[in-house]
Amino acid sequence: KDSKKRSERPDQGKSTLKLKIDGKKRSFNIDDPKLPVWIEDGALESGDFPYTEKMPNDEYAETLEKLQIELVKLQYWLQDTGGRVMAVFEGRDAAGKGGTIFNLRQYMNPRSARNVALPKPSETERGQWYFQRYVSHFPTTGEFVTFDRSWYNRAGVEPVLGFCTPEQHETFLEEAPGLERMVVADDIHFFKFWLDIGQIMQLKRFHDRRHSPLKNWKFSPIDIMGAEKWDDYTKARDQMFARTHTPYAPWTIVRSNDKRRARHAVIRRILLSLPYKGRDLDVIGNEDALIIGSGPGFL
Ligand code: ADP
Ligand code: AMP
Ligand code: MLT
Repeated sequence: KDSKKRSERPDQGKSTLKLKIDGKKRSFNIDDPKLPVWIEDGALESGDFPYTEKMPNDEYAETLEKLQIELVKLQYWLQDTGGRVMAVFEGRDAAGKGGTIFNLRQYMNPRSARNVALPKPSETERGQWYFQRYVSHFPTTGEFVTFDRSWYNRAGVEPVLGFCTPEQHETFLEEAPGLERMVVADDIHFFKFWLDIGQIMQLKRFHDRRHSPLKNWKFSPIDIMGAEKWDDYTKARDQMFARTHTPYAPWTIVRSNDKRRARHAVIRRILLSLPYKGRDLDVIGNEDALIIGSGPGFL
């Protein structure tokens, strides 16, 4: 990932965010270590999240381990058959992409389970075909490749923050389905996950990152710039769904205010989609239709 220069870190700059939340004006000083009550109390249920409590930790951990054992079997199967998997993770800042990918790959052999998290494009890359730097990371025989953000930057952060032109944005929306059609036609098992979070949950996570010495590296100037652009990101997201949710490469949406349920849902979906040797459907269990669904209609 892009290493963030000290001078670019958010602790130097602007820290009082002016926001509109459910039509109400709010301001939030992210540098204040005390989290406002309206954020503490409103986070989990923001964005119409269907549960009022997180999944209990013991249930989370126990199920996660069972699912991770299945993932190990899946990886053996890929190696035996030469199959390839590619899973793209998208979502707003702090949606939980990094943590979900971490859990997915935690017990896989890192030789053949790679994560791709590209920094902002270099001068050379900016001169290339837009998709080029992503395509070069696509999986080879037996590989399981995750993308923590992807070519879909050009449908979200780039148009919203002005890193591409409106024409480039439009061209991207036009072309992405064609690229994905080729991926699927080449028999790569392809997944596109959108991790969805509520606005107040995003603020809570930004605040946690800002004040945690372990998570501070995740907090970037982009997050600060983006926090006030919630509605612009919503518009970009909906446009992206409308143009790139295709029968051969559909978006899978995961309500992610509860990271625990979200992580289970993603892993379960992958396991249920691939007929690997030794697959144990009883262990995998059923999907939670309140948490995971297909395409824009789910939100
Ligand atoms: P992340 O959320 O992945 O931890 P950031 O919030 O810092 O990282 O950035 C979000 C995305 O915006 C990253 O994929 C990054 O590469 C991209 N990005 C940042 N600056 C630019 C830029 N100038 N041009 C294009 N993309 C950029
Ligand atoms: P999160 O903030 O939950 O999205 O997690 C992001 C990062 O936290 C990951 O990239 C890991 O480095 C770490 N992490 C997440 N889950 C775990 C876990 N179960 N055990 C240890 N580290 C974790
Ligand atoms: C996430 O948590 O969604 C990702 O790791 C990216 C981020 O917001 O920094």
